[in-house]
Amino acid sequence: MKRVFVLGVAVALLALAAGCARDAGGDAPVVGFSQVGAESEWRTANTRSVRSAIEEAGFRLRFSDAQQKQENQIKALRSFIAQRVDVIAFSPVVESGWETVLREAKAAGIPVILTDRSVDVSDESLYVTLIGSDFVEEGRKAARWLLEDSPLRRGADREGPVRIVELQGTVGSAPAIDRGKGFREVLGDDQDYRIVRTQSGDFTRARGKEVMEAFLKSEGGDNIDVLFAHNDDMAIGAIQAIEESGLRPGEDILVISIDAVRGAFEAMIAGKLNVTVECNPLLGPQLVDAIRAVQEGRELPKRIVVEESVFTREQAAEVFPSRQY
Ligand code: AHR
Repeated sequence: MKRVFVLGVAVALLALAAGCARDAGGDAPVVGFSQVGAESEWRTANTRSVRSAIEEAGFRLRFSDAQQKQENQIKALRSFIAQRVDVIAFSPVVESGWETVLREAKAAGIPVILTDRSVDVSDESLYVTLIGSDFVEEGRKAARWLLEDSPLRRGADREGPVRIVELQGTVGSAPAIDRGKGFREVLGDDQDYRIVRTQSGDFTRARGKEVMEAFLKSEGGDNIDVLFAHNDDMAIGAIQAIEESGLRPGEDILVISIDAVRGAFEAMIAGKLNVTVECNPLLGPQLVDAIRAVQEGRELPKRIVVEESVFTREQAAEVFPSRQY
């Protein structure tokens, strides 16, 4: 009896000493996931998708919310490394500043999967794969709608250049950088379309409203033809600011945004938002597939891109009932 007890204590101590994150007796992989925050409807849907896919797969999840702060994310990654989780997955708040912590994960032999947003690192072997949207293409799609399909398309009868204000996402984040880049790439040097103001609204409704109020004040509502918002939440906040200024969003000022969350469909059905470019947050199942591949030692492509559409307000009522987020 005494020997069995001593043996049990020794095994428990060994497990502790190894700092092993697996529960005693369990062999399901432990996944440390560091999320950006809860800044938007998109993000909430993304968190739900990741949580439920990991739960359904029977993996164990260590979840950490960074509240849009890179330093919190770095702390979370270091804590996952200390716990020796089997896989780290994270959606980086911003693109730069990851080299050191990713090297620490690599030295500890923990594979890292990026979801949603990319990192800017000199050594691509620091992560296994990036699962997420092509943000540059989303920006291009937004501009193509304006130039080719909107009431202000090229060749439409109007006086003077089309004046655009831009609500950018979080400064330094991959979607803010890439959506702005794709949008500008399609506008090219066409002087008929001018971005007259650009400022970050940090992907939130509250900031979107505040910054739009500032645009309306500085430019004058009559001098703004188009709002390009890097996400639906900022567009919805801005719509409120436009209405409060006595103008009609969707009519006096065209509103273009990105994500295609349910809130955007409601705004389109109400005629206040003209178009939303889809950015799919339901990345959980693909993340689970990637974790399985890593566990089984299978090769993964460096980039796994998600297929996406564009929805206009003319399509909104028909498409709305089938939207999952
Ligand atoms: O990284 C994806 C972006 O982050 C979404 O477009 C936005 O809504 C979110 O906060």
